[in-house]
Amino acid sequence: MNPVSVLCCSHRPGGNTEAAARMVVRELQQAGIPNELLSLTDYEVQHCEACNACLAHPRCECRLAAVDQAEMLFERFLTAPAVVLASPIYFYHLPSRFKTLIDRGQRFWAAHEKGDPAILGLPPRSAYVILAAARTRGAAIFDGALLTLKRFLFYFNIQPAAVATLRGLDGPQDFEADAAAREEVRILAGKAVQDLRVKG
Ligand SMILES: Cc1cc2nc3c(=O)[nH]c(=O)nc-3n(C[C@H](O)[C@H](O)[C@H](O)COP(=O)(O)O)c2cc1C
Repeated sequence: MNPVSVLCCSHRPGGNTEAAARMVVRELQQAGIPNELLSLTDYEVQHCEACNACLAHPRCECRLAAVDQAEMLFERFLTAPAVVLASPIYFYHLPSRFKTLIDRGQRFWAAHEKGDPAILGLPPRSAYVILAAARTRGAAIFDGALLTLKRFLFYFNIQPAAVATLRGLDGPQDFEADAAAREEVRILAGKAVQDLRVKG
């Protein structure tokens, strides 16, 4: 089995979403499920230039593929048996590094439009999503991030199977100090383990 990709999307190393991601990693490890923890801060990803070269390219390749590391990350979305995405909310949405990667996913939209069998034939897989926000109130805090994530993941035939929306986390240690938040992530990790075991 390829490793489950656990992607930490915060710009702040050692913060709440990294702690939550590490908790999922521990649960996967205890269940004997291979996994890898990645941080977006370790990858250079340039902005989509909206040049539409991917749409014109026979294999929908991006002109920037050779100059940055976006494809290393996309490879995980193409091959991992499941992905875990842990991200803070910035201004009611995903952090800019993550949104930059998502925009570079335009080439997968192009491939889907053109009926590329490599994309249309991807196996169905699940995402386990953890979103952390400082605010304790506000009905729509997670809506923008979730809508964008669902659309991005769709082109990889990945659907969110569980979402943990954590509120009231601001300081970098707040997740560790919040028993309810930890329990929510433990439940999400448990579902991931159960789903992956069923899948074999
Ligand atoms: C640029 C920026 C924008 C933010 N915008 C919001 C927001 O709109 N709503 C909110 O509840 N928290 C917001 N926050 C707070 C973070 O979501 C919160 O501190 C989160 O726990 C950070 O996760 P981390 O420790 O993994 O970086 C923002 C933080 C930053 C740095």
